[in-house]
Amino acid sequence: MTTVAPDEASGPDVRIREAERADLLAVFHIEQEAFPQPWPFSAFERFLDEPGFLVAQVRDAEDSRETATVGDDGRVVGYVVADVVPNHGEDLGHVKDIAVAEERRSEGIGRRLLQRALTALAAQNAASVKLEVRESNDGAMDLYRRFGFEHHGTLPGYYANGEDALVMVREF
Ligand SMILES: CC(C)(COP(=O)(O)OP(=O)(O)OC[C@H]1O[C@@H](n2cnc3c(N)ncnc32)[C@H](O)[C@@H]1OP(=O)(O)O)[C@@H](O)C(=O)NCCC(=O)NCCS
Repeated sequence: MTTVAPDEASGPDVRIREAERADLLAVFHIEQEAFPQPWPFSAFERFLDEPGFLVAQVRDAEDSRETATVGDDGRVVGYVVADVVPNHGEDLGHVKDIAVAEERRSEGIGRRLLQRALTALAAQNAASVKLEVRESNDGAMDLYRRFGFEHHGTLPGYYANGEDALVMVREF
């Protein structure tokens, strides 16, 4: 069955919360670094009120010692965008985008973002969740498999460079 890693994996200094307008520049910056065909800024704006649009915010050790001020919650180092759409009489969750800033990868932040996004989709009564992933993206696929996603189909030439997308699905 589904294996879900503990939410505490990346330690207490990471906070996952709903995205706000003030986060969008940081999100857009990470998106541009992470993907060869990044979403435009306006695409993120459209998801601002979506419960599945979440950001990961960290307070670095040096931030909290020297530069952080009262009310400074740290910087955004990752995000996930997920929503729910009707699909043949059932609500289908869709993880549309997820990325973590390169210098903060492999700390468990992606896992925590995905966990919280799935919780948000379940709260909206999604019966299952799908996502698309480049067939060469082994790291992301490994992450998705750990959360119980399974290969469901292939979209030939889905990406602009002609690469196929694997569609992965997880039932709730
Ligand atoms: C995919 C991504 C969001 C994962 O975020 P992350 O914070 O690095 O992931 P985590 O540290 O939570 O890792 C969770 C698990 O994912 C898998 N994983 C993540 N990156 C991996 C990599 N480069 N190689 C192999 N496995 C990887 C591992 O199973 C890992 O568990 P482990 O740390 O116990 O080995 C991040 O690598 C990223 O932003 N990539 C670029 C954007 C992207 O490809 N997004 C997915 C589009 S479909």
